[in-house]
Amino acid sequence: MSLENILETLAKNHNLRSLTPLKHDGNFVFKNDIKLLNLAGNDYLNLSSSKTLKDEFLSTLKDENLFFSSSSSRSLSGNFEIYEEFESFLKTKFKEKEILHFNSGYHLNISCIAALASIPNTLFLADKLIHASMIDGLGISGAKFFRFRHNDMEHLENLIKKHYENYEQIIILSEALFSMDGDFCDFKALVAFKEKYPKIKLYIDEAHSVGCFGDDGLGLVKALNLETKVDFLVFTFGKAIASMGACMICEKPFKNFFINKARAFIYSTALPPINVAWTKFIFEKMSKFKEKRENLQSLAEFFKNKFIQKNHQILGDSYIISLLLGENKKAIEVAKKLETNGIFAPAIKEPTVAKNTARIRFSLHAGLSKTDLEKAIELL
Ligand SMILES: Cc1ncc(COP(=O)(O)O)c(C=O)c1O
Repeated sequence: MSLENILETLAKNHNLRSLTPLKHDGNFVFKNDIKLLNLAGNDYLNLSSSKTLKDEFLSTLKDENLFFSSSSSRSLSGNFEIYEEFESFLKTKFKEKEILHFNSGYHLNISCIAALASIPNTLFLADKLIHASMIDGLGISGAKFFRFRHNDMEHLENLIKKHYENYEQIIILSEALFSMDGDFCDFKALVAFKEKYPKIKLYIDEAHSVGCFGDDGLGLVKALNLETKVDFLVFTFGKAIASMGACMICEKPFKNFFINKARAFIYSTALPPINVAWTKFIFEKMSKFKEKRENLQSLAEFFKNKFIQKNHQILGDSYIISLLLGENKKAIEVAKKLETNGIFAPAIKEPTVAKNTARIRFSLHAGLSKTDLEKAIELL
């Protein structure tokens, strides 16, 4: 198939992606100069537009961190002190673990999973709905893996039993709060498997839950006191943390292993020191955002109940709520209707979600009001 054919086919299937410049202003985006309420970001705590936070950060920023480039990988000259300061700070919250900062969640997942796959006799068992970055890690490394139906613990246990004798370690891949269906993994069952089957290790991605759970805002695993049970805990910083980057929380030998074997860690220029200083600044304040977390949960409940009252087919147990629409065309029509009426919530289509499960994915944040949400619901 030629390049033109590929693009034409995507367009015919209502699945051609294109980019529109957006101007951001608080809760709104301006698209072609039209002001739209943004219900599509992942800034769950509504921190990214806070002028107060930015001003405070800039006034306390040390000169040594005022660099907009690290000019090198951390393996060479890019390992500015702020990296170690950030990792040491987070380590105080996860005492038996080590922290390793990466440039993004995508970098982290592809390279750590690929590195783990290089350990002989490793099998991965992956939830059907894990994020593309984890799937790509399995793909590029030629890992041995099977996928279990989303959150289907019976299917997972059948796979464990079937393959247990043939492997030395079995790594289960899951998200804590799933990015598209907005539901939670079954922590209780996953931990029980780890206890029942000693070869099992748990790899949990908290991209969508870090910041939003627990008194200290350090995610679901910590809030549930499971940090010693999870072997590989992933935080990403581009969502509730209002920054960029990610970190792996794991035991020391694995940290050393990733420093040596995670190719995206080794072969990419490290994020700028100012970026890491901002991430650290936000994490230091995390316990102070309790009210925001509570507000977020209350908005989520309100929004979900409104959908239920209107008999809509929705997915989501938290602040990610997807309105299921099926065909791409239908989802695009609904997104257009929302946009015409001042709401930005684009359609999500395959391959991001399975074919015929196109949807509008609403992701809420703590700065919205119930009136904002009512307006969206009235249009549906
Ligand atoms: C579950 C999950 N993991 C990883 C990532 C990638 O993180 P990043 O945006 O930092 O590359 C995302 C991003 O959407 C995600 O949803």
